[in-house]
Amino acid sequence: MDRFKNKIALVTGAGSGIGRSTAVRLDQEGATLIIADINEDQLNETKNMLTNKASSAMVLDISDLEQTQACFQTVKKEYKTLDALINVAGILRFDNSHEVKIEDWNKILNVNLTGTFFMCNFGCLCCLSLKAIL
Ligand SMILES: NC(=O)c1ccc[n+]([C@@H]2O[C@H](COP(=O)([O-])OP(=O)(O)OC[C@H]3O[C@@H](n4cnc5c(N)ncnc54)[C@H](O)[C@@H]3O)[C@@H](O)[C@H]2O)c1
Repeated sequence: MDRFKNKIALVTGAGSGIGRSTAVRLDQEGATLIIADINEDQLNETKNMLTNKASSAMVLDISDLEQTQACFQTVKKEYKTLDALINVAGILRFDNSHEVKIEDWNKILNVNLTGTFFMCNFGCLCCLSLKAIL
């Protein structure tokens, strides 16, 4: 299937789980991917599963403002457009609420909430500046 042929898609959390599966499926469907994750080793494993040689891997902490801004600068420079942004990066914990440490709580909020907001915010700005539709 070639439903995503000539489409550029950025997938966060592509180092494992849902993000990796999404990246592999989009690759099978013809997409050119920018895969991103904070875990470089796992990210490289996913990259090796992709068949499209134009796809690339980017080590990225989505909760870091400068890194997320730089990510979209790279997308603009290298790919000139962006057709899809798939925000999968996140932290899943199953702690009992009375045992949650405040530093863990803050980290989860920083990644799952603020990090996803950074990606949406800068992703939309990137598309608007390229006149692409997200
Ligand atoms: N699997 C489920 O059943 C399920 C259910 C509900 C919600 N979710 C949510 O969906 C998301 C993905 O789930 P999954 O099962 O694929 O999890 P996963 O742990 O397998 O994958 C998450 C990926 O995000 C990456 N990541 C973590 N922090 C990051 C950061 N700051 N910047 C960039 N990458 C970062 C990790 O390295 C990892 O590769 C998680 O946020 C999870 O909470 C999953």
